[in-house]
Amino acid sequence: MQVFDNYSNFATMKRIAIFASGSGSNAENIIRHFASRPQSGSVEVIVCNRPGAAVIDRASRLNVPVEMITADDMNTPRRMIEMLDRYGINMIVLAGFLMMIPPYLTKKYEGRMLNIHPSLLPAYGGKGMYGRRIHEAVIAAGETRSGITIHTVSEICDGGEIIFQAPLDIAPNDTPSTLEARIHDLERLHFPRIIEQYPLP
Ligand code: GRF
Repeated sequence: MQVFDNYSNFATMKRIAIFASGSGSNAENIIRHFASRPQSGSVEVIVCNRPGAAVIDRASRLNVPVEMITADDMNTPRRMIEMLDRYGINMIVLAGFLMMIPPYLTKKYEGRMLNIHPSLLPAYGGKGMYGRRIHEAVIAAGETRSGITIHTVSEICDGGEIIFQAPLDIAPNDTPSTLEARIHDLERLHFPRIIEQYPLP
């Protein structure tokens, strides 16, 4: 009888909220990953701040609820925490989320919030470094290497603890858009697995 034999899973089961503002390719990969491994966790909700973002359609197709939020919601702790508690969220994943996370939320989810950044931090990180701009800056500087960084989220922009990096060599004919596509492949390869393996405090 399977009642209490996997009881310990309940403590570690990840109930994930993904915060995303754009295309949502990472969000989709993470949703699919956990859908095929329900014993390790599940994506309970997508939190989005940009009406019309492609991530909304992706989530609907995959039957994951979407909560749309405004800057005002984000800065109202009671509203955000009530919403996250309603879904029983014990882990937040930022995947292309273009809004600063206020300190009350980084504190509440300390060690339970991961972000992915498409460069080898601390290089090409910090305020204003997001999306295609990063790859443009990397190519313009003549770098021979870039990659991805997965890190915990603290109050400092791109300044949390680095928990994983994967490098890639930049080819002489790479452009910002080919580099971006290759970085997305790396993200697909690693991000869902790192989230699954990450030990919650
Ligand atoms: C990714 O490159 C991620 O590293 C960065 O934003 C991008 C989001 O892409 N933080 P997508 O919306 O998941 O396709």
